[in-house]
Amino acid sequence: MPAPNFDVIASLAKRRGFVFPSSEIYGGMAGFWDYGPLGVELKNNVKAAWWRHMVQLRDDVEGIDAAIIMNPRVWEASGHVAGFSDPMVDCRSCKLRFRLDDLKGDPSEIACPNCGNRGTLTEPRQFNLMFATQVGPVADSSSVAYLRPETAQAMFVQFDNVATSMRRKLPFGIAQMGRSFRNEITPGNFIFRLREFEQMEMEFFVHPRDEDEWFAYWVDARHRWWTDVLGIDAARLRLRPHAADELSHYSKQTTDIEYQYPIGWSELEGVADRTDFDLKAHAVGSGKRLAIFDEESGEHIVPYVIEPAMGVDRAVLTVLVDGYTEEQVANEKRLVLKIHPRLAPIKAAVLPLLRNRPELVERARALTADLKQLVPAAYDDTASIGKLYRRQDEIGTPFCVTVDVETLDDGAATIRERDTMTQERVALDLVPQRIADLLGGRSAWEGVARTPPAS
Ligand code: GAP
Repeated sequence: MPAPNFDVIASLAKRRGFVFPSSEIYGGMAGFWDYGPLGVELKNNVKAAWWRHMVQLRDDVEGIDAAIIMNPRVWEASGHVAGFSDPMVDCRSCKLRFRLDDLKGDPSEIACPNCGNRGTLTEPRQFNLMFATQVGPVADSSSVAYLRPETAQAMFVQFDNVATSMRRKLPFGIAQMGRSFRNEITPGNFIFRLREFEQMEMEFFVHPRDEDEWFAYWVDARHRWWTDVLGIDAARLRLRPHAADELSHYSKQTTDIEYQYPIGWSELEGVADRTDFDLKAHAVGSGKRLAIFDEESGEHIVPYVIEPAMGVDRAVLTVLVDGYTEEQVANEKRLVLKIHPRLAPIKAAVLPLLRNRPELVERARALTADLKQLVPAAYDDTASIGKLYRRQDEIGTPFCVTVDVETLDDGAATIRERDTMTQERVALDLVPQRIADLLGGRSAWEGVARTPPAS
């Protein structure tokens, strides 16, 4: 089945409580979206899977959680004040602004893509993507600060504190997840390009001589995280090394992990070799030494940095697109979100076959309470069983448990698996453990970590 377009995904996401337009009753706001009750669970599951693999299961990565607003000198030293910009073209007639990259041709020759007038597009001008704000009561140039456009810089600025407090030697990494803000000129494609989004980034500090080996290691490890941990279809993923003219100002080599979205192959995550660019820049900017003692040479060295950087919202979008499946079942269309059970917002839904039989409802509610002790579970009796199944299929719930009239006799319930729709009858008191076992079997962590290069 080809990937569904973003409108289809956005409609499902809204209908089922995953993602809503921000401040929708006021007409929304371009580039800003809110996560609903199921969306926040899905997003948290994606984040937990990243944190577990990038921090908790590793011996060589520390996590931090830094402030969003940092000393503005950070962004001067990092090059973002001078260089974090896109060339933009304005239309003098309709006043819309376009990224030069998005225009099909020379602005002096083509018509405005919006109003169609010719000769109205300006020369390209650089437009800084950072959101500025004021800190403190006086609004002058000395109080200007920025909402961070990437989470990475805190890891460079805190390099020495982390290395010293945790007694680290090379190689080691610092990871964090959190909000980033970019005044994107053309936000859109649902939650693909946002103005407020979340990133998960890790800066891995290595001896300069080991940079290529670690770069290859992280490209491979990150690619396998998408397939093995998030369950994304490998056929819709590819690696694309950047050409020299598209490298960021800090990067020596970058490989993007791309997904085949309905808009075409696009970046999901980037792995960049940032060399010693950032640590050196902050050493100059702050006047503090950002280096680490190398026992082999007996000298302080400035490490190189390999950075896997991904967007949480883009990951959520990818999970939704990748899992979206339409099937024909007995002359009916079945829409099912075949996402990895690890990511499903609800792992098991308990559905009483008849809601007007108090004895059934009572058993179903008691079972839900038991299940909730082990896994995220829900109770639903607000529609016919067919509709209840459909609702759970559309939100990706791996298991539905039906409590029916027979339950009153045999004390058992039916567990139905989402993808195969196979059913098994299990004694009520064994249902929670059975579901936990079924989920445990599916969510094994093995097959992800690969032996790191020897340093
Ligand atoms: N520290 C490096 C860095 O920020 P990036 O390629 O600009 O690199 C990394 O961003 C990831 O963050 C991207 O691969 C993408 O998943 C996500 N991302 C970047 N800009 C985004 C935006 N405007 N909306 C949603 N996600 C974005």
